Amino acid sequence: MFTAIDVIRAKRDGHRLSDDQIDWVIDAYTRGVVADEQMSALAMAVFLNGMDAEETARWTAAMVGSGEVLSLAVDRPTVDKHSTGGVGDKITLPLAPLVAACGAAVPQLSGRGLGHTGGTLDKLEAVPGWRAQLSVEEIQRQLVEVGAVVCAATTGLAPADRKLYALRDVTGTVESIPLIASSIMSKKLAEGASALVLDVKFGSGAFMKTLADARRLADALVAIGTAHGVRTSALLTDMSIPLGRAVGNAVEVAESVEVLQGGGPADVVELTLALAREMLSLAGLSHVDPAAVLASGAAYDVWSRMIAAQGGDPAAPLPKPAHIHTITAPSDGIVSTLDAYAVGVAAWRLGAGRARKEDPVQLAAGILCHAKPGDVVRAGDPILELHTDTEDAIPAALASLDGAFTLGPTAPARGPLVADVIRP
Ligand code: URA
Repeated sequence: MFTAIDVIRAKRDGHRLSDDQIDWVIDAYTRGVVADEQMSALAMAVFLNGMDAEETARWTAAMVGSGEVLSLAVDRPTVDKHSTGGVGDKITLPLAPLVAACGAAVPQLSGRGLGHTGGTLDKLEAVPGWRAQLSVEEIQRQLVEVGAVVCAATTGLAPADRKLYALRDVTGTVESIPLIASSIMSKKLAEGASALVLDVKFGSGAFMKTLADARRLADALVAIGTAHGVRTSALLTDMSIPLGRAVGNAVEVAESVEVLQGGGPADVVELTLALAREMLSLAGLSHVDPAAVLASGAAYDVWSRMIAAQGGDPAAPLPKPAHIHTITAPSDGIVSTLDAYAVGVAAWRLGAGRARKEDPVQLAAGILCHAKPGDVVRAGDPILELHTDTEDAIPAALASLDGAFTLGPTAPARGPLVADVIRP
């Protein structure tokens, strides 16, 4: 009915793609009828000329339709969260059990880290015995029995996106709002949750460096969810410094457990509660106070059951690194900056992340930020503690931390962690 060349030319010349053109090209690409080089040209045409809200919603629907859609039967409202990725962003770990303890069901199909941002599955694999791969039947059973599941996305979900994302990665076409938004939402819509909260991050450690770009992405994400009948909202959150004090795998699990046990860094608690409130509101449970549920220990109980249901031992000691290197304060002062991107790259170089998707990660690798902006330090106090199993990795990590923090005479002014909430 169409040819790939017609569709490429249409977008190249700045025209809208019709619903039929979009449905055809996504289906033909998934089946291998449209070749990678043709899809690359189309992705570049979209990158340069954009897609409007209707085109983007249809493109997303076509990617959802390229694979299976989960239909999870639970007798409580389902609500999910997606973060666009950050440094020290372990929020899923305390959030999923907390929202489940508040009465919703949280099916959270997650990914692995690539580059300087960590992946939820890599973090949870630091828990001895924990298993990421579940069948649809196991996901369904755990959702009913425990209320929260964090596991790997099954390969049948949005296969068109899997292919297209890999292609965009090597053709300079990742940074396009319609392509990013449709990619994220195709996977989330295929999970079948009835409500979704997006944590769209901005700042040096985020995909979107500015608040304005994060807002444009959030608007596109919320529009797609709404067009598909899913109650969707987005928080715009600051990622210019790492979240919490732990960046890496085992260290982030340990910090999440602290939060679930009533402690943990204030910013991690604040964002967990802000996202929980938004999720509960979309799930029709706004009368439940997540702060009280967190303080009661009920969220920690769900965490323990969620980990055990996937073969993990919540009481087992977490992996420890073979080598620790500490960076200390060169003088007295107040920490004025701590660059999230530099800390993320350093943790990655220490082995916490991967450069290619087939690379292994070190479970014990990461960084502890002993001091963060606003903290008073004395000369010789620890600022950053580097963890790794490969001592050779330390010089490269130190190089990326060169200039990552500064000390000054006064506490820095900082904007709010949650800069705005976008609702339809
Ligand atoms: N994450 C995704 O899933 N897709 C993108 O295109 C970018 C980030």
